[in-house]
Amino acid sequence: MRSDTFYLIVQIGILALRLCLLTRCTARLGSSAPGAMVQARQKQLKSYMINDETVQYYSRRAPVYDALYENPERQSDLIQTAEALKSLVSGRKVLEIACGTGYWTQQMAKTASYVLATDINESMLALAKGKEYPEGKVSFQVADMSKMEVNEDFDVLFGGFIWSHISRKELRTWLGQLHRLVKPGAQMIFTDNIFVPKSNTPISSSDQLGNTFQVRKLPDGSEYQIMKNFLDSAELDGLFESQDIHYEFNIFGHYWMLSYTTPAFSANNLS
Ligand SMILES: C[S@@+](CC[C@H](N)C(=O)[O-])C[C@H]1O[C@@H](n2cnc3c(N)ncnc32)[C@H](O)[C@@H]1O
Repeated sequence: MRSDTFYLIVQIGILALRLCLLTRCTARLGSSAPGAMVQARQKQLKSYMINDETVQYYSRRAPVYDALYENPERQSDLIQTAEALKSLVSGRKVLEIACGTGYWTQQMAKTASYVLATDINESMLALAKGKEYPEGKVSFQVADMSKMEVNEDFDVLFGGFIWSHISRKELRTWLGQLHRLVKPGAQMIFTDNIFVPKSNTPISSSDQLGNTFQVRKLPDGSEYQIMKNFLDSAELDGLFESQDIHYEFNIFGHYWMLSYTTPAFSANNLS
């Protein structure tokens, strides 16, 4: 073989090798290209988003939801919880997630300077909007807490009875996301159920991650499997350990209330 033919074959070989490497690199880059990153992030969000069955359950439960606030055995606990909440939000600007029919919105509006009450379900918000509030103090917005964006500065974030629907494994990520919605140094407040046998719906099953589930029935006979976790203070220690976060945890009979301040210089160091 002539030396220039040999040289040509070697050059073609090198070119083919380069092309091959380039294709593989491009394929790899493709997986971290912006579109793919967004997809990956959305997948991550989906995993801790409350599932569709739970969202639908609350949408259909809206017309009968407030019956739970009529339960005679819970009245004194409700009053204590409301008093604690009103005192914490006094004079402050509140972002409320998962506001439902506005039971807590109404309480907070008595002392807060302003409340933006949000929920994923229009049927819930319609009932919340129908309640009475002090003039100009409350606004409403349909919003999925996992995807929402805000363009106001909030001093407080409040979530009533939503904590129990978040997978234990995803609590840390969920809180980290919520911190981004408020000012650094804002106050986070949550309230939810203590498990009281014979008062709460029995737990029907649990999973390997320690989440517990209830079968909930609506008046039309439809049934839903709903994740409902009952928090204990040991879990809170685990959640906040190694973070410079001091929390207050109080129990009012059937309910617990948690409050803490987000880290002043990093609104997201729980995630
Ligand atoms: C147990 S109810 C609590 C309602 C209200 N906070 C209360 O304590 O009366 C849970 C609420 O979470 C809402 N919800 C469920 N998933 C949500 C999401 N991803 N974003 C915002 N709200 C959500 C439901 O529509 C429902 O109103």
